[in-house]
Amino acid sequence: MPPLLAVTDLRLAYRAEGRTIPAVDGVSFTIKGKGEALGVVGESGSGKSSLANALIRLLPKNSAEFSGSIRLDGQELTVLSDEQFRRQIRWRRIAMVFQGAMNVLNPVLRIGDQIAEPMLLDRAISKRAGRARAEELLERVGLGAAFAGRYPHELSGGQKQRAVIATALALSPDLLILDEPTSALDVSVQAQIMDLLKGLKADPGISMIFITHDIALASDICDTIAVAYAGEHVELGPAERVLPAPRHPYTALLLESLPRLRGETPPLPMPGSPPDPAALPHGCRFHPRCPLRFEACDDHPPAIPLADGGNARCWLNDPAVADGRQLVLPARDTAARA
Ligand SMILES: Nc1ncnc2c1ncn2[C@@H]1O[C@H](COP(=O)(O)OP(=O)(O)OP(=O)(O)O)[C@@H](O)[C@H]1O
Ligand code: SF4
Ligand SMILES: [Mg+2]
Repeated sequence: MPPLLAVTDLRLAYRAEGRTIPAVDGVSFTIKGKGEALGVVGESGSGKSSLANALIRLLPKNSAEFSGSIRLDGQELTVLSDEQFRRQIRWRRIAMVFQGAMNVLNPVLRIGDQIAEPMLLDRAISKRAGRARAEELLERVGLGAAFAGRYPHELSGGQKQRAVIATALALSPDLLILDEPTSALDVSVQAQIMDLLKGLKADPGISMIFITHDIALASDICDTIAVAYAGEHVELGPAERVLPAPRHPYTALLLESLPRLRGETPPLPMPGSPPDPAALPHGCRFHPRCPLRFEACDDHPPAIPLADGGNARCWLNDPAVADGRQLVLPARDTAARA
């Protein structure tokens, strides 16, 4: 059986002010089947939302290159026309909760009508059936049917995000892409939304791409973690291995910047800043910020396969090149700790 989603060498570049920005640059991953979640983590501007937009094919007008392969249940999606994609795939098979979506709910439309809208547009169902389905979805996301009659301003942030998730579930998608679904919420509401997503993952077995800058949050729900840096995925692997034993210095530094996983140890800030996306560093894109760089890093590292089926774009994973060097971050001055 083919995997639910197989993405190979996906590329999306933008043209802006005469410059080319490779926002998604040779990204590959697989989501095997029902109820599996991939977490995509990385700093701002690393290309997380661009990957999501490419998968659901909502590309801005200034997209300059869109190439690679996206297979859903073995079906190549990139050969579909925009109309075929809209009719067969978007919302029906792949749905998305957009970054900041809860802030752009239509203020003059009741929640139930907003949830029913895609069903009424796309399927010949009656208004009454649409309303009943909206109420069922509102129950499923823990709000209750009575919320169908409310306007967005009558909902808290967490309730709005539940309503947005209900909207994405309207046409029973197999894959749900969630772009920073909890970043605007406080910690306790964030935990409730995470519980809801875990529930949807278990039953009805929705597969997910969970996008966040918070690697700890991603590991809470995701089976696999992809670490995005400057358009590439610099590390890919099972969450249970990536967190305790990262194979890319950027991942290791992301983990060092977390308060939660280090017990009493205060977090350390990530060194340096992300590169100019239109003028990426030569060789390894992370080398200007990498405390472990060495001569080989002048060459751009490929995605080097790892024993767990994942990969990492760091020469330290190629024993012939690493020549005994280990991925151990140097101790940093505790005065630098946040
Ligand atoms: N329409 C566009 N035209 C030109 N450049 C764009 C466009 N959209 C995004 N970019 C650039 O592409 C790169 C990737 O942006 P993207 O929004 O995918 O990042 P992100 O990882 O989602 O960031 P964040 O965490 O802030 O949401 C950034 O350098 C961004 O400035
Ligand atoms: S390839 Fe070199 S510069 Fe890049 S992450 Fe690995 S050690 Fe650092
Ligand atoms: Mg984004």
